[in-house]
Amino acid sequence: MTIRLTPSILNSDFSDLRGEIGRIADAADWVHVDVMDGHFVPNLTLGLPVVERLAQASPLPLDCHLMIEAPDRWAPAYAEAGARSVTFHAEAVSAPLRTAREIRARGARAGLALNPATPVEPYAELLAEFDMVLVMTIEPGFGGQPFLDSVLPKLRRTRELIDASGGELWLQVDGGVGLQTIERVVEAGADTIVAGSAVYGSADPAAACRELRAAGEA
Ligand code: DX5
Ligand code: ZN
Repeated sequence: MTIRLTPSILNSDFSDLRGEIGRIADAADWVHVDVMDGHFVPNLTLGLPVVERLAQASPLPLDCHLMIEAPDRWAPAYAEAGARSVTFHAEAVSAPLRTAREIRARGARAGLALNPATPVEPYAELLAEFDMVLVMTIEPGFGGQPFLDSVLPKLRRTRELIDASGGELWLQVDGGVGLQTIERVVEAGADTIVAGSAVYGSADPAAACRELRAAGEA
C-alpha cells in the first residue's frame, strides 16, 4: 500500500528550519509542523509568523498540527498563513464543525486530532466534515517518546469508520513511529505517517525517510 510520509521538524535544528526541510524535500510528501502553546501541552514551539514564512520558503506543503487551546480562534489563521493542512485537537475545540469549515473555506485540508485517551466514536457522524483524522500514539508535547501499542485498536476502529463513511479521509498517526513500529500502524489502517526523531535523529534524514517508506509499504 502507498503511504504518505509527513516528517515532523520538532526535533530538527530550529535555527535553520528552511535548511532542515530542504534535507527531506526529495524524500517526503509533506512536512509536519508542530505548533505548541505551552498550555494545551507543556511545551512551546512556534506560531503564526514562523508558519507564514515557512509556507513561502518550504518546497513541501505544510501540515500544521495545532497543540493549542482555543483552536476555534486560531486554526483558520494557520490556513490563511499558507498551511495546506490544519489539524486541531478534539480535546481543545469548542465548535469542531465550524472550525473545520473555516479551515476548508480558506483552501486548506481540515484535520481532527485525538489524544490517546480520546475515543473516536463521538466523532463518527462528523467525519465527512474533515479531510484527515490524526490518531496520537503518544501523549502530545514532545518527540522521542515510546509508541503506545494500546492505541492500535482505536486506530483500527477509526479506519473502519472512515471506510464506512465512504469519504476520502486520510488517517494519520503521530508519535513513536519508526522502523520498529511503522508496519504495525500501516497494518492497522494508517496511510499518513508522522515521524520525528526517527527522521531528524538520523544523520541522513532523507535516507531515513526512504527506509521508513520502504518498511511501511512492504
Ligand atoms: C509530539 C508531536 C510529534 C513529534 C513526534 O507531540 O506531535 O509530531 O514530533 O515525534 P516522534 O516521532 O519522535 O515521536
Ligand atoms: Zn505532531
